[in-house]
Amino acid sequence: MVNLLSKLCGKISPLSIKEYKESGGFEGLEKAIFKMSPKEVIDEVKNSNLRGRGGAAFPTALKWNFVAMENSEDKFVICNADEGEPGTFKDKVLLDGCPFQVIEGMIIAAYAVGANKGYIYIRGEYPKSKEILISGVKILQEEGYLGNKILGKDFSFDIEIRSGAGAYVCGEETALIESIEGNPGRSRFKPPYPPNKGLWGKPTLVNNVETLANIPVILSIGSEEYKKYGTESSTGTKLLSVSGRVVNKGVYEIEFGTTLKEVVYDICEGMEEGKKIKFVQLGGSSGACLPESLLDTKLDFDELRKLEIGLGSGAVLVVDDSICVVDFVKNATKFFDHESCGKCTPCREGNKHIIKILDNLTNGEGTERDLKLLNEIAMVMKQASLCGLGQAAPTALLTTLKYFEDEYKNHIKYNCPAGTCSLKEGVAINV
Ligand SMILES: Cc1cc2nc3c(=O)[nH]c(=O)nc-3n(C[C@H](O)[C@H](O)[C@H](O)COP(=O)(O)O)c2cc1C
Ligand code: SF4
Repeated sequence: MVNLLSKLCGKISPLSIKEYKESGGFEGLEKAIFKMSPKEVIDEVKNSNLRGRGGAAFPTALKWNFVAMENSEDKFVICNADEGEPGTFKDKVLLDGCPFQVIEGMIIAAYAVGANKGYIYIRGEYPKSKEILISGVKILQEEGYLGNKILGKDFSFDIEIRSGAGAYVCGEETALIESIEGNPGRSRFKPPYPPNKGLWGKPTLVNNVETLANIPVILSIGSEEYKKYGTESSTGTKLLSVSGRVVNKGVYEIEFGTTLKEVVYDICEGMEEGKKIKFVQLGGSSGACLPESLLDTKLDFDELRKLEIGLGSGAVLVVDDSICVVDFVKNATKFFDHESCGKCTPCREGNKHIIKILDNLTNGEGTERDLKLLNEIAMVMKQASLCGLGQAAPTALLTTLKYFEDEYKNHIKYNCPAGTCSLKEGVAINV
């Protein structure tokens, strides 16, 4: 474990500007606006190799540059604090523990890209975090860190807080933008992308809470020092939200390059008594399921890409062998079916068909042809869905079909190896 990004969480009073400043807070901002041009700030972030922590791992400086290059009087910075991915609760730790760090990251981002207005889009189920943010913004307005002529410089930027109402898709950046505009949360067709045409048609930077919290750290310690953390391709640290059958569940900051095995057995002190690991789902419900044999995999964007998977939001769900894989995937798919905005056919219809086929399997009515069909539907959704929700929804299905094919096949033979789905072992005899 390491303590670079979250070092102030739980150590200072979240709304004490005095304690924040005494701990080095606003050093990054002051360095940026008094000693560096906006381009130099972007170059520093570029040199750090920071990649987005919201799920897609997009290079942060590249996105900032797209917004900076746009010629517009109005530009926006949005902090994506929707945190709707099941099993993900790491942004809350930063928002509640050190809100000024996240806001400082937003102010630096606004300076770098030339934005004058910002929004924090906070998950509707985080009312306490919302209160903290409202108070935090007010304090910073009073102290001259937000508003007109920040710290006396010819740079103005202010922030409003908006909250979601429980829709998972509103974490997707274009659905989020629709929601802020007061429209139903549905993803937009892309292009145009938000950096070119986002909120109210203006250039808009959308970054995750954790991405933004990295910015003051990079600016204050410098990108060269920052790069000493992590690996060459994945610099810095990552917050993981660990849940499931491990002894110590919670949010942990790790250096990139740490293996899943180290997370499960060293950091979380292994499995609960009497529980045996079956797989780890990485990145939330839309993430891949990795069997025990792949626990030596390093949490590193390039290493994960070799397995054709991503780190997603950094959720780590540790599942034990009492769980039926088919049932597990069916539950996850029900979530996506419920959350699908219905705008495009592959996602709207695909999830329903997958649930129907998985129902067949757990009811003892599955066939070999169903397995082929599951693969085909999943591939269509992955390739043809309009937004990331539908594209990623079948990831758990595809990875379990790959790593736990036997368990699906066993269901066709009327046998659930875990014995926990509606098709219990021994209920019917293979025919
Ligand atoms: C269905 C869906 C839900 C998402 N939810 C979130 C979320 O809760 N928080 C987040 O930061 N990004 C979420 N994203 C990713 C955002 O669209 C966007 O890529 C991200 O906020 C960009 O920030 P980053 O570059 O700092 O990672 C979601 C994407 C999809 C497709
Ligand atoms: S993939 Fe799903 S959530 Fe995204 S636009 Fe299509 S129907 Fe809506």
